[in-house]
Amino acid sequence: MNPVRVGICGLGTVGSGTYAVLTRNAAEIAARVGAEITVSQIGARRDNPNCDIGNTPVSRDVFAVAENPDIDIVVELIGGTTVAKELVLKAIANGKHVVTANKALIAEHGNEIFAAAAEQGVTVAFEAAVAGGIPIIKALREGLAGNKIQWLAGIINGTGNFILSEMREKGRDFNDVLAEAQALGYAEADPTFDVEGIDAAHKLVILASLAFGIPLQFDKVYTEGISRIAQEDVTYAEQLGYRIKHLGIARDTEQGIELRVHPTLIPEKRLIANVNGVMNAVLVQSDAVGPTLYYGAGAGSEPTASAVVADVVDVARTLTAQPEHRVPYLSFHSGSLSSHPVLPI
Ligand code: HSE
Repeated sequence: MNPVRVGICGLGTVGSGTYAVLTRNAAEIAARVGAEITVSQIGARRDNPNCDIGNTPVSRDVFAVAENPDIDIVVELIGGTTVAKELVLKAIANGKHVVTANKALIAEHGNEIFAAAAEQGVTVAFEAAVAGGIPIIKALREGLAGNKIQWLAGIINGTGNFILSEMREKGRDFNDVLAEAQALGYAEADPTFDVEGIDAAHKLVILASLAFGIPLQFDKVYTEGISRIAQEDVTYAEQLGYRIKHLGIARDTEQGIELRVHPTLIPEKRLIANVNGVMNAVLVQSDAVGPTLYYGAGAGSEPTASAVVADVVDVARTLTAQPEHRVPYLSFHSGSLSSHPVLPI
């Protein structure tokens, strides 16, 4: 079986983790796919001293990866919505499958990107875009596919949860913890996205689209961050038997679909109140199975790489399967499962 050839664009926190996981676990991955997966090219503007890429060819021009005829899957880990969007559309136009961890790109431009991918008959996979290493996209798309989903709620920003947890457990200063989250590679390039709820809103829009079969509608999310939460708020909440958690909530109500991101008070005995540090958790209420809870690391190099590599494996399996055994890898539903509009903010 010919190897499946991957091009990784971006060699930051997630890119270097992806390279490390793909190479370290190459034997297990090859056994699962039925073919070797090779990193044929890396597109990165600069080297990453923390990542040993051996003799892998590097292009300083990321677009060269999308043009490379010897690449089957382009892995977009640049972030942002300008260069990343151009790269992904170029890769799709060249008939390449795409794996991305870019929640802003999917939430804000996903409708256009999935339409282009459908036209070209290629896949755009995005497991790593929501809740880091937790396979929540696969859970919604596959595990809960027989259910009507009523609502979901989750801690979906690791940086914010890390800050709130450190403030409560150690009385640490908001900005000190944020600086540590940045040093650990948890935070966004612009950490305003973390602390003002924008990153969580991006992720919520993606989850809601899958859960309710609706187009991505980022402009319909009520968004409030944690930047105005003071130490006193955390302390008073604790004295009253609550924890402050920053949640993304999507509900299918009688009036329409409600999308909101904001701090909440949660009784301290609830499972979700005890999700601390960079961990994320998503609770999904569905009609057949009832409640299900998904928990794990929501940010960081290898936890996020775990989800990126899972998508690479998924796409590689469809490439190596005999044509008659290929299962189409669905992205978003082409139509709407829900007749409900998303409620205005
Ligand atoms: N900045 C994001 C977070 C990274 O802290 O959750 C993972 O999406």
